[in-house]
Amino acid sequence: MIETDFILKDFSLENITNGIFTWKTPSNIALVKYWGKQQPQIPENTSISFTLDNCFTLTTLEYKLKNDESEVAERSRSFNFEIYFEGQKKNDFKPKIATFFKRIEQYVPFLMDFELIIKSENSFPHSSGIASSASGMGALALCVMSLEKTLNPTMTDAYFNKKASFLARLGSGSACRSVEGPLIVWGNHPKIEGSSDLFGVKFPYKIHNNFKNYQDTILLVDEGEKQVSSTIGHQLMHNHPFAKQRFQQANDNISKISKVLQSGDLPAFIEIVESEALSLHAMMMTSNPYFILMKPNTLKIINEIWGFRAQTNSNICFTLDAGANVHVLFPESEKEIVNDFIKSKLIQFCQENRYICDGIGKGAILINS
Ligand code: DP6
Repeated sequence: MIETDFILKDFSLENITNGIFTWKTPSNIALVKYWGKQQPQIPENTSISFTLDNCFTLTTLEYKLKNDESEVAERSRSFNFEIYFEGQKKNDFKPKIATFFKRIEQYVPFLMDFELIIKSENSFPHSSGIASSASGMGALALCVMSLEKTLNPTMTDAYFNKKASFLARLGSGSACRSVEGPLIVWGNHPKIEGSSDLFGVKFPYKIHNNFKNYQDTILLVDEGEKQVSSTIGHQLMHNHPFAKQRFQQANDNISKISKVLQSGDLPAFIEIVESEALSLHAMMMTSNPYFILMKPNTLKIINEIWGFRAQTNSNICFTLDAGANVHVLFPESEKEIVNDFIKSKLIQFCQENRYICDGIGKGAILINS
């Protein structure tokens, strides 16, 4: 599919007045990382992620057709929306949402015909350092698609999900991987059938049982605001001395991990996933300007994990996103032993001993309409 396939051309506002949708949309954790993009939100390399379950955003979109004369005159000229986060009106969130709406305007031209109220909350603490842009933008894109579906009820579920992912991507790249689960690929890749730069697709091959219900315990090492945002980090990949090699490495890792996910080869999985996490942070450390998002406790945890693996032959491993928190990944069959290890050895490195137990999820769900 190409961009123009996502432009809604004919729609009728007849019989539509007002309504409300709520979507629960999970976060995701990349195994092969997206770091570097071109406009408009086209990734420099393919990425793949586990969709999570317990870390999610709940977003409600209330819509009301503009109907008094001045409102109608304003139609097709401006977006009218208010945003609430965890019960509080958040005018400082408005510019980000306005930018998102501008980017998606040509694909969802009906949005300007409505007054919108967006209410959002996260299952994870706001200050946890867990990026909420994937679940947040994913949830908002899904709400917008539910509105589109009321205007175009014959739309198929497949198109609904593709376009939701397409719109989410324009809000935040990784958000396009939060619509479905359990494993989502984003970025065109010759070895992944159906993959696209425009939206995320489900990993199209049979996933080995070793990866069913894979666990992700997120250790909250640093709950402060990040010193360098992902947006800046992506920009720094332009003219980065290792950019070309990095994009090649990620695309090679996609070929490798695709085989591993089908064969169930856990040691090979660990090698790819940990190398990806460290390569991502190596890009940060070698940007101009350079920066470090890991904290001393991030490294302590990594060393503990390596020690435990060497001692026990466990298949525990770690990955990192653009921050100091550590995602501890392990097969469901090792839940008990790994959880004991986490509690006895790793929790001490978390801020206020905080961590979140999560695992692979199936994707977003519509809560009400
Ligand atoms: C390190 O999706 O947050 O988590 O597209 O600018 O919104 P924008 O960036 P974002 O970047 C995520 C980067 C990452 C790796 C990943 O999730 O693949």
